[in-house]
Amino acid sequence: MLVKIKRGWELPESAATPEASYWSRRRVMGVAGAGSLLLAAGAGSRLLAAGPALAAKNDGPDPTLDLYPAAPNLRYRLDRPLTKPDVATSYNNFYEFGSHKSIVKAAQALPIRPWTVTIDGMVEKPQTLDFDALIRQVKLEERTYRLRCVEAWAMAVPWTGFPMAELVKLAEPQVGAKFVRFETFKKPEVASGQKQFWYPWPYVEGVTLAEASNELAFIATGLYGKPMPKQNGAPLRVVLPWKYGFKSIKSIVRATFTDEKPKTFWETVQGSEYGFFANVNPAVPHTRWSQAEERIIGTEDKRPTQIYNGYGEFVAGLYDGMDAKILFR
Ligand code: MTE
Repeated sequence: MLVKIKRGWELPESAATPEASYWSRRRVMGVAGAGSLLLAAGAGSRLLAAGPALAAKNDGPDPTLDLYPAAPNLRYRLDRPLTKPDVATSYNNFYEFGSHKSIVKAAQALPIRPWTVTIDGMVEKPQTLDFDALIRQVKLEERTYRLRCVEAWAMAVPWTGFPMAELVKLAEPQVGAKFVRFETFKKPEVASGQKQFWYPWPYVEGVTLAEASNELAFIATGLYGKPMPKQNGAPLRVVLPWKYGFKSIKSIVRATFTDEKPKTFWETVQGSEYGFFANVNPAVPHTRWSQAEERIIGTEDKRPTQIYNGYGEFVAGLYDGMDAKILFR
């Protein structure tokens, strides 16, 4: 990524919340995998300190608050403590608001109500959905996932949202559709980064239809048991935990089903460094740095990076028979 390497991840604080103590404060409602885990009922905790998105002038009150916190889905477990909310919500990549990590304040200017998501392209059901209606058409759940940025930092957070497969179902893709292309808003009047004409706005990302239908692919509407903070991609974003973080496009307004591989934002900016698949692999270095280790933001810790960010059991089969040269950058 064309970024100044800032050493902000080296904050000298103990920035982790053991996963078990997070869940022990959460109500468990019999989602797959809850199994033998006996967790105390009762939501609400100081750990859930990350505030919901602050309202821009015209947002009005958030009508989705009653949906949080959602039932945890304990099928996806972490191998490390959760990142502290104040770290995950203040160290962000969101180039629309600046090409540095401190975009929290600037991002609050994004109006998120009303917000629509258009589903179009090769689908039986093209439609434009109001976000506040869409979120009631799906069943929200909470999942803890690791996120590994291509810049070699990592975090582990509880997202709230719904499987991307639900969005695919709503769209009813036509037989020839092979990819889903996602697009972020374009509002240079509130997002000053979009005045930087050398970037190809709007931010675009894409996945294959098979990836979109994989059980891990997630559309997140919340974080730490509350609606999504703006800096993390309110009101809804993509989360693909086995891929480098730049694939997890924020604040989406469009999902287009297509038979053509979408040209993504970072491929357009620097195609020699950022590819379409961008699956995490410690053995394939970035052209300018190693991917063997990751720095855990908010701590002094480093960990070995895992192939597919540790999610190989869920996703490796998607790439059977494909050329490894295109899969890991
Ligand atoms: N989405 C948009 N629209 N704009 C961006 O600049 N940055 C990406 C991704 N999604 C980005 C984006 C990158 S590089 C990363 S690592 C993650 O968002 C960071 O998500 P976070 O700020 O919630 O940690």
